[in-house]
Amino acid sequence: MKRRDWIKITSIGASSLLLPLGTAFTLPKKHAPLLNLSAKDFGTDFLWGAACAAYQVEGAWNKDGKGASIWDTFSHRKNKILENNNGDVAVNFYNKYKEDIALLKQMNFGAFRFSISWSRIFPSGTGSVNQKGVEFYHKVIDECIDNGLEPWITLYHWDLPQALEDKGGWTNREIIDWFNEYVSFCTQEYGAKVKNWMVMNEPAAFVGLGYMLGYHAPGEKGPYKFLKATHHACLAMADGGRVIRKNIPDAKVGSTFSCSHIDSYRDDPVNAFKDLGAVKRMDALLNRLYIEPSLGLGYPIDGLPALKRIERYFEPGDDERLKFKFDFIGLQNYFRVVTKKSVFPPFLWSKQISAEKREVDMNEMKFEVYPEGIYKVIKQFAKYDISNIMITENGVCYKDIVGNGRVHDPKRIAFFEAYLAQVLKAKEEGAPVTGYFVWSLTDNFEWSEGYEPRFGLVHVDFKTQTRTIKDSGYWFRDFLVKNK
Ligand code: BGC
Repeated sequence: MKRRDWIKITSIGASSLLLPLGTAFTLPKKHAPLLNLSAKDFGTDFLWGAACAAYQVEGAWNKDGKGASIWDTFSHRKNKILENNNGDVAVNFYNKYKEDIALLKQMNFGAFRFSISWSRIFPSGTGSVNQKGVEFYHKVIDECIDNGLEPWITLYHWDLPQALEDKGGWTNREIIDWFNEYVSFCTQEYGAKVKNWMVMNEPAAFVGLGYMLGYHAPGEKGPYKFLKATHHACLAMADGGRVIRKNIPDAKVGSTFSCSHIDSYRDDPVNAFKDLGAVKRMDALLNRLYIEPSLGLGYPIDGLPALKRIERYFEPGDDERLKFKFDFIGLQNYFRVVTKKSVFPPFLWSKQISAEKREVDMNEMKFEVYPEGIYKVIKQFAKYDISNIMITENGVCYKDIVGNGRVHDPKRIAFFEAYLAQVLKAKEEGAPVTGYFVWSLTDNFEWSEGYEPRFGLVHVDFKTQTRTIKDSGYWFRDFLVKNK
């Protein structure tokens, strides 16, 4: 089942030729901007980076003492991933991190966001530490610093140690302690060198897809598992924030959230009102559920009354424990949601109308390309008591045109120009946006979609692991040089 189906929750109801690496490093001619954008417009303090995640890039799934994660187990099961692909090798970042960091620098970025694989550090989730795994992340961090790039670390990008899933994973409340042990170790180990930390990547996605719909690891299903896992993830996220702050007093502490602007489908007088109700429920589920508890607002039961059932998992003190004032909030935007009232699924009573059905501009994963969406979600989140918003992921998958030593991706360039113009608009209107990370540095393992969708600024030939900067990567290089 597919990543794109998270969008469908609610609707329940290239590859390429090999390019010689050498040619990629010669300077292609400048790309004429479609819009008159310059990185300078964002201010010299604005941070520009590119992102990736451990399971999607590292490979070396069982090397040097690493324990299995739920993604190793899940991707080794039949028919879970497109063409039964897995992340055993991925893009071999474990061995090629130096090359990838050099490419990032070559494109003039200032920061690199990557995640730590929990089971590379603690093969069984807790207890004994795998020293080789610890050393690997030291090497990655040092390589960033030596190249003048700020390391931005995500502690949890979906690859839970399998040993912990065997004890219930996110549905077992003990996970809060397991997670604290891991966060505590990493921040003590790397805190002197790394000052920018994200506790989690998109809890809405890993809980929704992994514990309600079963499309992602660990493949669990059902509303109760979903609510339990949600509550434990929210508690662990706030606790994790506290642990980072205690261990690294000068750290910038954040967490990342998937967010989508939501519109109603129909505007005729009979149905418009009904669909507005659907928008409200969907917004509570997709945009508000994981951020509002940390802000002290509790779960958004006003928007989605079925969430009231989460209270059965509360213990005394949880209301307070859910709160944590992050230094920054990471917003990650990929698509807009258009919804209407529906009798299915129960409790949500809303379904999504796909981009395909609406016949709008789409990417390879059938996500709607809707640049205004990023402006609208920034504006929506800026209404909270948040002083710093980072765009920690934004990007697009298209088929690349590969040939003559180059990788042409004009649609990706147009995508970034249009989205960045919207980010700038929100910033100029006063939203506290301070940085932008492209998803993704390289093509990589796209979860249940395997290696088919390519999000990278750098093309990877998955057979030879050859890297080639795409035109969009050169576009960023030229765009960012103006920032210097
Ligand atoms: C995830 C990435 C993923 C991207 C594109 C984001 O929600 O954080 O891991 O590759 O979406 O689907």
